[in-house]
Amino acid sequence: MMNIKKQVASAAHYLQQQRSFDPELGLILGSGLGQVAEEIEDQLVIPYQDIPHMPVSTVSGHAGQLVMGYWCGHPVVCFQGRFHYYEGYGMKEVTFPVRLLAALGAKYLIVTNAAGGINPDLNPGDLMLITDHINFMGTNPLIGPNDPDLGPRFSSMTTAYDRDLATLAQEVAAKEGIKLKQGIYIGVTGPSFETPAELKAFAFWGADAVGMSTVPEVIVARHADLRVLAISVITNTARGEAHEVAQHGQVLDVAGKVGPDLARLLARICTQL
Ligand code: HPA
Repeated sequence: MMNIKKQVASAAHYLQQQRSFDPELGLILGSGLGQVAEEIEDQLVIPYQDIPHMPVSTVSGHAGQLVMGYWCGHPVVCFQGRFHYYEGYGMKEVTFPVRLLAALGAKYLIVTNAAGGINPDLNPGDLMLITDHINFMGTNPLIGPNDPDLGPRFSSMTTAYDRDLATLAQEVAAKEGIKLKQGIYIGVTGPSFETPAELKAFAFWGADAVGMSTVPEVIVARHADLRVLAISVITNTARGEAHEVAQHGQVLDVAGKVGPDLARLLARICTQL
């Protein structure tokens, strides 16, 4: 099998052939949170299946296409549709988009996701800036031989979520009158939701929100030295016995309601990068 560096190089080469382009920023948008992509100007849309070695996503609400274009004055690549570990993809596939971004020379990664609110202050419709994470997925995308061209063997996660970007996000949110809470995200594999005992344990560990994505992408982004900003949309409460289990339709519904605020917030942040 071709190694990841060659696969990514061939995918990047394909994209560069479609358009000569040096993206500064990559966006990975969660379920139902794809509307930022509509604001991208001078778009070139490329279905995932056309990109060599790119996995193809299966969950409804995920388009499975890449958008290249200009957003708030910056060349960007936006991944509409992400790969979840619970779908059966390996960690290398889940994080392929991040490797691709790094190969294209991007400096920043913005990630959004849907999450359950463990902290009683987090309710459906809230936006939560992720300040740190707990990897509870039982694996790590960096396991295996390390290619020093892609990043160091032992990658620091001390500032996985960029402090300057977080400060900028809070400043912009305050100026725009958008309530942006903040907290720690715990990543689980899913697809089953959490038991009351698990949620109690996660709360004890200091987790504020729980979700089934983001952690692998952020680990690889830091390995590749991308600066990360991540925001969760709280779609349901996730507190012990009161775990209000979110159906996929409900996730899309909440995401649809706060989508415009989130899109505005991200656009204002992007403008100031
Ligand atoms: N648990 C895990 N993942 C989620 C949840 C949840 O309650 N809500 C949205 N994604």
